[in-house]
Amino acid sequence: MFQAPLPSEYAELTDDLAAGRIEAAKRALGSRLVVLGHHYQRDEIIRHADYRGDSYKLAKDAGAHPEAEFIVFCGVHFMAESADILTPDSQTVILPNLAAGCSMADMAGIFQVRSAWKQLAAVVGVPESPPPTPPSVSEGTNHPPKTEGGAPVVPVTYINSAANLKAFVGEHGGTVCTSTNAPAALRWALERGDKVLFFPDQHLGRNTAYRMGFDPDRDMALWDPFKPLGGNSADHLRQAKFILWKGHCSVHKRFTVEQVERARAEFPGVSVLVHPECPLDVFKAADLAGSTEYIIKTVEAAPAGSVWAVGTEINLVSRLAKENPDKTVFCLDPQICPCSTMYRIHPSFLCWVLENLAAGTVVNAVRVPEAIAAWARVALQRMLDVGP
Ligand code: 13P
Ligand code: SF4
Repeated sequence: MFQAPLPSEYAELTDDLAAGRIEAAKRALGSRLVVLGHHYQRDEIIRHADYRGDSYKLAKDAGAHPEAEFIVFCGVHFMAESADILTPDSQTVILPNLAAGCSMADMAGIFQVRSAWKQLAAVVGVPESPPPTPPSVSEGTNHPPKTEGGAPVVPVTYINSAANLKAFVGEHGGTVCTSTNAPAALRWALERGDKVLFFPDQHLGRNTAYRMGFDPDRDMALWDPFKPLGGNSADHLRQAKFILWKGHCSVHKRFTVEQVERARAEFPGVSVLVHPECPLDVFKAADLAGSTEYIIKTVEAAPAGSVWAVGTEINLVSRLAKENPDKTVFCLDPQICPCSTMYRIHPSFLCWVLENLAAGTVVNAVRVPEAIAAWARVALQRMLDVGP
């Protein structure tokens, strides 16, 4: 998304000045405002968050504050879109910098997914015509589990995807998942169909299916959207249980088994804890894997003196180290790896949106058109119904 440059008054603000002005604007707005902060946000932003969390928790937090007129989401675009979809029109969701996207989410586009669905239809018989109108979420969104046969393919999208992909899965009997509930979501999907089309993160899909006992070679196919049949034979697609989109996170693909081995050699007794967006060999080599919230809770609950090598974004890892001085916490990757798009939420942008709100002007509202939001809401509600 395009973000116009900040007025020079804001562009030149020091972090200290911005912090004072952010707090003043928050005080002026009072309970009309809730600020949400994803765990990858820098310290200068997270200190202003009323609630911190992973994608799953923040999606729930967004829907849990009906009193707030404004939800300022310090995270990336797909998170703000999800919050807008899950909240009524009377609440406005604001992303301080509209250029804060997610490169993984950009790896699957709606035309590519529609094309994949059509090609799969030819091979495994995906139903072509979805039901015409979305059910109201209060009527319930769960399709019943399959009786005989079930759907040939159930689409599941990671929450790191655009709203129109969430609408696609809602319309086609699928669900959204996050790293918190990916195992429950995949089980849910397999109760309703024979196969899962999972996008856009191949690694979360592969790691989760592997943990469920599926074989990466026999039971999984990788779908390259730039090749016919995703680069697979029709037979392999018929055999596969999981068709995994060829997308990845550029931050998490940097983690390697060599780094795990080095950490184990240098710190005997270290526990290696990674995000499930890491490649399968790293996931297997680690002791534990889970969402950002899981990573934080796990280290917080660990005994004093324990040592943790963590495979995820550096702002989270550095803060975790600072907030747990009785433990040794370090990043698996010695070359630090920030998420460059999360980093675009700079204090100057937060100050700019909040001071505008306090003065009665809404800037950077994220509004998903209802034609898309209706089915996307069905898919997100299934994610919440499936539970963590
Ligand atoms: P979490 O839902 O675990 O916070 O992950 C979000 C994300 O983008 C990880 O790269
Ligand atoms: Fe997207 Fe990766 Fe950044 Fe998460 S860490 S927001 S998946 S680019």
